[in-house]
Amino acid sequence: MNDTSAKKVLLSGVQPTGRPHIGNYFGAMRQYVELQETYESYIFIADYHALTTIQDKDTLADLIFNLAVDYLALGLDPNKVTLYRQSAVPQVTEAAWIFNCLVTVPYLERAHAFKDKVVNNQIPSMGLFDYPVLMAADILLPRADVVPVGADQKQHIEYARDIALKFNTTFGETLSLPEPLILTDVATVPGIDGRKMSKSYGNDIYLFASEEELKQRVMSIVTSSVGVGESLDPETDNVFALHKLFATPDEITELEDRYRTGSIGYKEAKDLLWKQMNNFLAPLRDRRAEIATDKDFVTDVLAAGGKKAYARYEETIAILREKIGL
Ligand code: AMP
Ligand code: TRP
Repeated sequence: MNDTSAKKVLLSGVQPTGRPHIGNYFGAMRQYVELQETYESYIFIADYHALTTIQDKDTLADLIFNLAVDYLALGLDPNKVTLYRQSAVPQVTEAAWIFNCLVTVPYLERAHAFKDKVVNNQIPSMGLFDYPVLMAADILLPRADVVPVGADQKQHIEYARDIALKFNTTFGETLSLPEPLILTDVATVPGIDGRKMSKSYGNDIYLFASEEELKQRVMSIVTSSVGVGESLDPETDNVFALHKLFATPDEITELEDRYRTGSIGYKEAKDLLWKQMNNFLAPLRDRRAEIATDKDFVTDVLAAGGKKAYARYEETIAILREKIGL
């Protein structure tokens, strides 16, 4: 199935699992905002997927609402992007069942996310095991051309392609194959301990942190024990690495010079960093606070997005039903 509309279709899903951090922003979220100009974009909140970890009604509702607010505050424009909840398009669960009957258990056992859990001695739920199949349905039903994701999701896109092929060979040419769009601009944003910034390492800095939170987190960045007045190595310094995300090229060059000549100490570098971060993040934070008070607006955006997505998914599922003989 190919669309004749001028713009290619972009789709991505985001799990509502908590406050986004700076790594999420530079690694993923920012690009969705930029790409909305070029593609017909569908961005959804993966609430069915979140059920694999979140099993509390109020918590889930809260996380979904807040993720929608995050995206709107960052500049996703509801006039350009279809923003919706995965549960607004239950066709994905029907498609996942159809696809389940086409894939084998050993094939799904090779999925990284599943293997990781098993290695950590956790007993996986069927939902977790089936995660890639539901994700394939997410991608194939809206007939996505491109799927922007972090490198960790590459295998999942391959599953979606494999499943589309399997369907086509079994029931006749039906589904087109999506392409991953691997976001590599900012490969890995380091956390305050120098490891990859991650919620699970507790080394993250929230994107919408208050000024006080920002300051406190930046002051806790782990640095070497080089004394004041001595030369610092920008290549290995965590403060410098984060600076690069927020400063202009000229500011970076100047700071690099000051690092090498020993004319800046960590205290000053950290002060500069949190102020610079704050200048960048304050307008986003303000916009977020404003949007969060307008619950009706957020609910309306999600409802309108859900309605539009529903119609598109319904077209595809109708074809699948017909092809399989149901
Ligand atoms: P996660 O929070 O792991 O579900 O990731 C959500 C998105 O943010 C994915 O596209 C990740 O690739 C991206 N991401 C998460 N942590 C980082 C990081 N430290 N640096 C760059 N991108 C990241
Ligand atoms: N698995 C993705 C993540 O953890 C979220 C996701 C669910 C997704 N369905 C998707 C991403 C479809 C892209 C396309 O980040």
